[in-house]
Parts: sequence; structure tokens; C-alpha cells
Amino acid sequence: MRNPVPDYLTEVVDACASSRGGAPASYIPELAKVDPEQFGVAMATVDGAVYAVGDADTEFTMQSISKAFVYGLAVRERGIAGVDEVIDVEPSGDPFDELSLEEGSGRPSNPMINAGAITAHSLIGGGEISPSDRVERIIELLSDLAGRQLSVDERVWHSEMEASDRNLAIAHMLRSHGIISDPAEEIISAYARQCSVLVTARDLALMAATLANAGVQPVTGQRIFSGGEVRRLLSVMLTCGMYDSAGDWVSAVGIPAKSGVGGGIIGALPGQVGLATFSPRLDTHGNSVRGIETFERLSSDMGLHLMEVAPPAREVLHSTHAIGAGEDAVRVYELSGTIGFSGAERILQRLTDEPPSERIIAVDLTGVHTIRSVARRMLLEAIRRLRQDGHTVYLVDEAGVLPDRDPGDGEMLLPLPPDL
Ligand code: DON
Repeated sequence: MRNPVPDYLTEVVDACASSRGGAPASYIPELAKVDPEQFGVAMATVDGAVYAVGDADTEFTMQSISKAFVYGLAVRERGIAGVDEVIDVEPSGDPFDELSLEEGSGRPSNPMINAGAITAHSLIGGGEISPSDRVERIIELLSDLAGRQLSVDERVWHSEMEASDRNLAIAHMLRSHGIISDPAEEIISAYARQCSVLVTARDLALMAATLANAGVQPVTGQRIFSGGEVRRLLSVMLTCGMYDSAGDWVSAVGIPAKSGVGGGIIGALPGQVGLATFSPRLDTHGNSVRGIETFERLSSDMGLHLMEVAPPAREVLHSTHAIGAGEDAVRVYELSGTIGFSGAERILQRLTDEPPSERIIAVDLTGVHTIRSVARRMLLEAIRRLRQDGHTVYLVDEAGVLPDRDPGDGEMLLPLPPDL
């Protein structure tokens, strides 16, 4: 069978290609020279499958997309509290090149605007590292995320340095507030190298998929961030990644994302996929016009919006029935799907409101895909209490979805005997 996913992505690219609004970034002269018609889309699943169509293998500079990952690296090196001391996590509602510092503390509003990103850059490697080693450390991180060695586009870097007055001003202001201590020229030169790292949409999809996969690069298997670091990173991408259009983005697309003035956008949907688009024409916020359109389509066609309401928890208790009669009658509870807090609560409520009259109970997990840790604890506690009430409880769980089956009374749960 020919896989229909690339055909679907090609259809989306064809549909969005007719949109020619916006213009490539021109405040960095080199970026204005690109072919504005280039358009690529890539998708990488958490299992490592990669689909790439159009110009998905064309290199362009990451620009602000790098900010998300460098912030993740700062959190990895300094811890959340350490980074929070100098960078806030509030959407600024301002354009990306505004100063947007918190009154009093002088902290940049968030790590996605330039002020916050320059500060995050300054945190990498501690006080002693040289600017070039710091950049090397960042390129190493980005290369690990892409699963291949990345490099800097020297021409874009030069061009960026020629147009760096605004970033220099931001760096001077950060220094005056004691937020960074590096000389302004030095840090802006290094930050501009971080922004000038060349990637393809395929690389970006894998980087985003690493976030979707809780920090593990899905092809190489390398753990790059911890689950907690990814949670913080995705939260900030969701609220601040699209700058002053973050509210529109969350409403229409609902995927944590980050854009760059090179024309790229990444989106990471936890537990599912990493997405990336590349098209150089930008809107007034500095976000790719076709990229936004593509994400809107993918999100609605594929039901990827984070706030897409999950099936009601009551479906977790798939059915209940009794087998046999008299003393040997067994009450079977068939559970299904993914059981989280609300699903487990539903089961507990049912056991409380309609206590089983049968002495023997079988909890059938055959249709269960995953039991979250909180739900596991709740189910085991329910089983402990059922036992206290005089019930004998068995488990049907051939796939082993319920780990560590001790309800806390010292007696492991046993499988349902074949004769019952
Ligand atoms: O610092 C800058 O202005 C650029 N190197 C990056 C800005 C950027 O990508 C904004 N995002 N859409």
C-alpha cells in the first residue's frame, strides 16, 4: 500500500501555495534575497517516522526558533528556579524586538522575545565559558535535536551583525539592569550565530518531535531534555511562541509553536507529532503566512488542537456484567482506553454508588491502553478497600498494563483463575 500521509501533506502544500501575502524579512538584508516561493512541510512522529514534502530539504536559518531550544538548555543547566530569576514567563503582547522588561526586576517578559532570548543565551555554560564555546555548545544541542551536524550560515550572520543596532540596544539595557554581564557586542555577535544556524523543515520536524516525545529524539533515541524541562518549554511556546499573535494562534491552531524570521515555524503536539513548515513570506508579527495557514489546516483536519476535548471519562468503564451465580458469581468490570485521573475517579464513583453484591470481582484491563500513575494509585487503593470489605479481587491483564500490583496490603493481585 502507498502511504497516504505524504499525499495528504502534498494536498495541503498545494492548497496553501496559492497564498502570496506578506514578504520575506528585510531588516536582515540577506534574508530578503531568498526565493519567496519556497515552501516545505515536514512531520515527524514520536515513533520516528518522518514525512517531508515540497522544499522540506532546503536549508534556511533557524532564527527565533533557536530561542525555544536554548531556553530549554538554560533550564537544563540552571534549573527552572535559576532561570526564572532572570527571565519571566509572561506573554508580553509586544513585538519580538521590544525590550519588554518587568518593572523593578528588569527581567525580560519571556524567553521568546529577543530580550529574553539574549538573556537565555548568556546563561549557557556558566560564567567562565568563552562566547565561541557557548555557541559551540548550542550548535551541539541543536545538532543532537536534528540528528545531524548543523552549521552557521556565515553570510546571514554577517548581515545580521550589520543590522544589529536594536539587539545591541536591548543588550545594553539588559546590562544596565544587571540581567546580563557580558559586553553587548560580544553577546549579540554570539546570539546572532545561534540565530544563523542552518536547518531544513525535516530537521525542525525532528526537533519538534523530540519535544513531543518528552525530550527523547525519536530517531537516535538520545534523551536531550527531561520531561519536566519539556513541560516548561512547551508551556512557554504555547503562551509566547508566536509573540503578539499568540492568542490568535492558540485559538486557531492550539499547538505549542515557535516561529523564526527565516520563514520556519515548528509545532510540537505532546505525545503525537512534531510539525515544521518553511515559507519565507512573513506577516507583520514576523510569522510565516503560509506556515500559519498550513498549521491551521493541519490542526483542523487532523484534530490536533490541544483543547480538542477527549472522549468523556465514562467510556473508561466500558461495561460491567456478572458471570455465574451464588457464592461463585463474579462481577466483571471491563475497563478501556487510557485511564487518567478523571477516568479512575469515574470508576471509584461507580464502585461507591453501586457496590458490587458479588463476593468475587474481576477487573478486566484487556481493553486498556495506558494507566497513568495517578490512576494506578487510585485503582490499587480501590482494590485494597474492596478487599477490606470482604471481596476477593482478580485482575485480567495479560498485556501487563498495570505495573507494580501491590495494593498496599502486602498481597499482590492475582490473575483470574481459569475455572471462574
Ligand atoms: O534577533 C533577531 O531579530 C533575529 N535574529 C531573530 C528574530 C526572529 O526570528 C523573530 N521571529 N519570528
